[in-house]
Amino acid sequence: DGFAADRLFNQGFSYTYDDVIFLPHFIDFPTDAVDLRTNLTRNLSLSLPIVSSPMDTVTESSMAVSMASLGGIGILHYNNTPSEQSSLIRSVKSRRLPFITDLPPSVSPSDQISSADDFGSSPCVLVTAESGRLLGFVARSDWEARSDARDAPAKDLMRPSPPSVTASCDFERTAEFLAREALDFVPTVDDDGVVVDLVTKGDVERVRRHPRLGVPPTVGEDGRFLVGAAVGTREEDKRRLEELVKAGADVVVLDSSQGNSIYQIEMIKHVKRTYPGLDVIGGNVVTAYQAENLIQAGVDGLRVGMGSGSICTTQEVCAVGRGQATAVYKVASIAARSGVPVIADGGIGNSGHIVKALVLGASTVMMGSFLAGSHEAPGVYEFRDGSRVKKYRGMGSLEAMKKGSDARYLGDTSKLKVAQGVVGAVADKGSTLNFIPYTMHAVKQGFQDLGASSLKSAHDLLRSSVLRLEVRSGAAQVEGGVHGLVKYEKKLF
Ligand code: XMP
Repeated sequence: DGFAADRLFNQGFSYTYDDVIFLPHFIDFPTDAVDLRTNLTRNLSLSLPIVSSPMDTVTESSMAVSMASLGGIGILHYNNTPSEQSSLIRSVKSRRLPFITDLPPSVSPSDQISSADDFGSSPCVLVTAESGRLLGFVARSDWEARSDARDAPAKDLMRPSPPSVTASCDFERTAEFLAREALDFVPTVDDDGVVVDLVTKGDVERVRRHPRLGVPPTVGEDGRFLVGAAVGTREEDKRRLEELVKAGADVVVLDSSQGNSIYQIEMIKHVKRTYPGLDVIGGNVVTAYQAENLIQAGVDGLRVGMGSGSICTTQEVCAVGRGQATAVYKVASIAARSGVPVIADGGIGNSGHIVKALVLGASTVMMGSFLAGSHEAPGVYEFRDGSRVKKYRGMGSLEAMKKGSDARYLGDTSKLKVAQGVVGAVADKGSTLNFIPYTMHAVKQGFQDLGASSLKSAHDLLRSSVLRLEVRSGAAQVEGGVHGLVKYEKKLF
């Protein structure tokens, strides 16, 4: 019944996720038995197959921290200066928990706090020695209560030797400490007494309200969140990369819409030669030929997709690309032979698309629009036509290219800029810490329907033709969505 993937994807058609549908298989395990552990690259493993896209309206430090705390990973965009991108890495590394609030400001003991604005959104100002060691803090409430507070040096206002917890303390132990000591907030410090984070009662309540999948976060041996960074393939990107590695980047993504190029092959070899311990992801590719070239150059992961993104116009502008389901299947089939994991990049609009990408051979999915509009996405909410939205733009849009992201479109030094993406907005989705656990639970249900208890088992079932697919006609696609209602409320959880 149905078709084997190999037959379906070799008929001369370019299919995307919505074109194809899996036939259900046999269930012999509960949903929770589905294990979504995976590899981002040859050497970097994740608890969840989710990656946030290196776009300036998707991934800065809050998104990267949130992704890593969920068990996925964020890739920081590079539409900024090398030092700005490095400080985003340091900000991710300085966090232990997915907090949105910024670290409190610091002053030296002789400094004055002359205005309430100096506290920012924080409940305190830290008082630190030159070495960065925490000496005490000035609580906002103490500062407000003293009439001479504006003129007094911080050392006269601070609470010395404040309670703190070591940064290696996990969330539950930190939360217990706050409750036991009846504190509103507590700084976490490293072995040298330098503040790493500030945990507030509000943060604890917020984190507790979110559903949990109970999988380990993506952290290194030092307990810090792992984070990736995107770079281009120009000479100046080599200097950028040096700074990023120093700042602690754990994996690098060579960001290009057509990755099969002399520039990228050169850059892959440069990374492998210069930073032997650093995994490099190449792309984007959509064919076996493109993938083979990058694999031969030594790439550790492949990013797949050309023109499939929600803000992309590459296929219309350049007449080049491929339907995303076909692209993922074709590239993953080749990459699997060399043990190179594939990232299905772009075109993810719902949990069903994630199931399709993963079962067709991807090891992870990279998302832009699905994560844009969330609390953790950069930018501020605006009201448009009565909805709360955040801006989401293609990195090949004129607006983003003006800031410098045209390096994505290779070797083009011309003054003529042609957009390969658009600027739009995405509705407020709340926190990724809330909707990603529901999304991934839905993905597990999809795997269960297919009788696949892991990504490896799904890939084996597909390649051995046990899993069968069909192409949906236009009418079948309409039938597969909500239809026949005048109005409906689209709420999934
Ligand atoms: P989604 O569908 O998740 O897609 O919003 C995100 C992916 O789209 C790619 N991207 C672009 N592609 N023009 C393009 O043709 C652009 O301006 C552009 N900006 C991003 C990128 O691969 C991203 O991960």
